[in-house]
Amino acid sequence: MTTLFEPYKIDPMSIRNRFVRSATTSYWSDEGGVIRPEIVELYHNLAKGELGLIVKGHLYVADVGKAHVGMAGISREEHIPKLMELTEAVHRNGGKNSCTAQPCRGTQHNRQSRAFRVLWGGLESQGHDVG
Ligand SMILES: Cc1cc2nc3c(=O)[nH]c(=O)nc-3n(C[C@H](O)[C@H](O)[C@H](O)COP(=O)(O)O)c2cc1C
Repeated sequence: MTTLFEPYKIDPMSIRNRFVRSATTSYWSDEGGVIRPEIVELYHNLAKGELGLIVKGHLYVADVGKAHVGMAGISREEHIPKLMELTEAVHRNGGKNSCTAQPCRGTQHNRQSRAFRVLWGGLESQGHDVG
């Protein structure tokens, strides 16, 4: 039982305990995929509640990969400030976060997006077959 409260390391990230919030999309982002203040507040509260790792709900890395209304994006520069705010809110409260990126792979448009290149480039450099 005590193990749950012990720190854990997923290199290079140190996590304060073993409590993880699984990715849960909220449908709360605006039409452009920018997350709303309520989402930042939610993640702030989760970290304040002392969760170790919080996995952000899925993010589309190219506009064509948007899977549903209210889904958050990481395909455009204008998505970044609010995502940074969310990350800072979690860090300020001692938590760590990660995200699930939805690459919707295979289209030319996706392959040109910056986030896609960063993600896929990283996976490829580790020897993964990314198709
Ligand atoms: C409302 C809801 C939203 C979810 N959103 C995501 C998501 O954005 N990304 C993801 O990878 N998984 C998502 N999941 C899957 C969960 O993270 C989890 O893997 C899944 O619910 C299985 O866990 P469980 O058997 O404890 O429910 C979602 C699940 C639910 C119920």
